[in-house]
Amino acid sequence: MIPSLPTERPADRPFDPPPALHALPPLARMRYPDGHEGWLATSHAVVRDVLADRRFSSRTDLRHLPIPGLNGSTDPAPPGALISLDPPDHTRYRRVLAGKFTTRRMRLLSERVRAFTEDRLDAMAEQDGPVDLIAALAFPVPAEMIGELLGIPQDERAEFERESAPLFRLGATREELQATSAVLFTYLSGLVTRKREDPTDDLLSDLVHTDLTDQELVMIAFLLLGAGLDTTSNMIGMGAFALLANPDQLALLRAEPGSITSAVEELMRYLSVVPVLVRTALEDIELHGETIKAGEAVTVSIPAANHDPEKFPDPDRLDLRRNANGHVGFGHGIHQCLGQQLARVELEVVLSALFSRFPDLRLAVPPEQVPLRTDMVVYGVHELPVDWKA
Ligand code: HEM
Repeated sequence: MIPSLPTERPADRPFDPPPALHALPPLARMRYPDGHEGWLATSHAVVRDVLADRRFSSRTDLRHLPIPGLNGSTDPAPPGALISLDPPDHTRYRRVLAGKFTTRRMRLLSERVRAFTEDRLDAMAEQDGPVDLIAALAFPVPAEMIGELLGIPQDERAEFERESAPLFRLGATREELQATSAVLFTYLSGLVTRKREDPTDDLLSDLVHTDLTDQELVMIAFLLLGAGLDTTSNMIGMGAFALLANPDQLALLRAEPGSITSAVEELMRYLSVVPVLVRTALEDIELHGETIKAGEAVTVSIPAANHDPEKFPDPDRLDLRRNANGHVGFGHGIHQCLGQQLARVELEVVLSALFSRFPDLRLAVPPEQVPLRTDMVVYGVHELPVDWKA
């Protein structure tokens, strides 16, 4: 009997990959919810090989979804949706977009992350009693940064944030997701028109000067929102949770604030908030002693790869002093995260500022009571109640 994708994590080990993954061979057969019999890759070496191999496609119309209820379409991806396109289309969009994440743009964004984070921390400090760190900080910071990238006018940001939220909400129905996407597409189309007429200093305005069509620009804007918000927000939330649950490691970071860059890499490895990526074989492929047939799906488990003891000894231990280079938390190969520089800046700034502002920060509930997002596409916590008062 071919097993399906293991997703269960014991409540007292929220940071470890689902334990059943460890019992599997590096490349195992897996049954998909639609009945397809494909593959599951769990070792670091196999995961990297799959992601680096151009004979595996990212196309949505070829794929089988690995998780029941995953809100992914199996229609062909529209122009501009580069995460679901193969070369040469992918290459063209990737080149244009990567060229706009300039050093100057990154410097402006870093300054904005710093200032906005301080504002949010000021607002937190004024409150009495426990605060949900997700609502107070972890969601607003990346939402603001998407607002900056797209050049959303300041007075429209709060509403844009509210309208985007259902995309990432637990139990949102298919109809709700479609309705939310429709509202956002209408808003983003209007925004693209405004940037064409009256460009401002942001990434979207830079993109209107390229030969991309309005339809492509709207899709790219939507992708930046979809790929850059929920991921970063959950990494901030889970990162704070993991540090609070490992006081010895938090003490190390407090003692050496300059170690935040390598601490963020280790948190990316340890937490692996994107649980799976999926590819489809375009031809028969020999890989690590198995033959993957054309049309078969391969799901790669990011947490399993990042907790492979052959690559990272004692992998289930958060160890801020380890060298976590080579983790696949941002993916690998041609689709490797385009926003990783920005994500790293956000994580470094937010976590450093949070722990320096509140020296007595602690969880306001026992760790087992923190509600985990086991049922979502991106792993994390729904809420993180914290307190800092004596
Ligand atoms: C791609 C993770 C933040 C934009 C990816 C992929 C992963 C990932 C695993 C690879 C997908 C694949 O191979 O199919 C993350 C994590 C983040 C983060 C964990 C936060 C900690 C961001 C941000 C942005 C962004 C802030 C932009 C604002 C993108 C885009 C792609 C991508 C556009 C597609 C690239 C392509 O197909 O060439 N991300 N990401 N991500 N990410 Fe991120």
